[in-house]
Amino acid sequence: MRKRWKWIIYASSIVALVASASFTIYCAWKVYAYHQPGEREINEHENNAYHFVLVPEELDNDYWRLVEKGAKAAAKETGVHLEYVGPRQANIDEHIRILEKAAASKVDGIMTQGLTEKEFTPMINRIIEKNIPVVTVDTDAPTSKRTAYIGTDNYYAGFIAGRALAEDMRGKANVAIITGSLTASHQKLRVQGFKDAVKKEKGIRIIAVEESNITRIQAAEKAYSILKKHPEVNAFYGTSALDAIGIAKVIEQFHREKETYIIGFDTLPETIHYLQKGTIHATVVQEPYEMGYRAVKAMVDIIKGNDVPSVTNTETKVIRKQDLPLRPARNYEVKHD
Ligand code: BGC
Repeated sequence: MRKRWKWIIYASSIVALVASASFTIYCAWKVYAYHQPGEREINEHENNAYHFVLVPEELDNDYWRLVEKGAKAAAKETGVHLEYVGPRQANIDEHIRILEKAAASKVDGIMTQGLTEKEFTPMINRIIEKNIPVVTVDTDAPTSKRTAYIGTDNYYAGFIAGRALAEDMRGKANVAIITGSLTASHQKLRVQGFKDAVKKEKGIRIIAVEESNITRIQAAEKAYSILKKHPEVNAFYGTSALDAIGIAKVIEQFHREKETYIIGFDTLPETIHYLQKGTIHATVVQEPYEMGYRAVKAMVDIIKGNDVPSVTNTETKVIRKQDLPLRPARNYEVKHD
């Protein structure tokens, strides 16, 4: 009997020992497997080492929020850390200071505009000399050593605006232009393209060209004073995203009695609202979301040594009320996170 008990205790100890050893081996294997990265994890980890900065001309501008949105979507897909920093209100000196800071903090890639040749070309070249790639978005700096440009062909965009106005006004109009800036290169190209497109039209006269500093308030003020000074003006061309909105507000408030034609830029919700109402007659579509998205993807390719074209022009076209609603929505819907 005693012998039997001994044997039972001996057998259960062996079973307990085997069970505890298997459990320990199982746990160790689980911990090991958890820490082995899959292929996707390795790629994400690699890209996460990349830190890109996107510097727009105005941080809280609805147009630039769309560029940011596209850039963030691409950064998420590629596991890149993206910083979005820029002047609160358009200001070239501050813009350059932010670029200097980004270059000094040795980020892996910088995306920005080439607003003026005088300030931006040497700044971009200094960044390139530090071996940091620069992708210009929205506004190119073609004489700089920038790595690539992704955005609208701004001369062409101005040209199609001019052709659209000439067509809609049947070759007869007294036009006032309100431009975001008299010195920024994309705005100058949009004005030049427009002027070239209407120069053979004998019935089209350009009466005034004024600056809004890319704000809807200043666009409205300028539109108001132009109409006071030049009552013969019956058409407006606004060359940056908020200009036509400012002009439309003035026309609706103070100038309803006369039919005034407005062609603007971009497809922000307010612009679409005025287009639907018939206060704005046409607008030049740009693809801000696409610019941001493609700029981040291009930057990853550049760093990995893949070929990236030096210029990629995003789509630009003129739309009128009958072309609404717009697709794809991601270039048009403004949503703040
Ligand atoms: C331009 C941007 C500009 C914005 C201002 C857009 O049409 O492409 O460069 O910053 O207008 O609202």
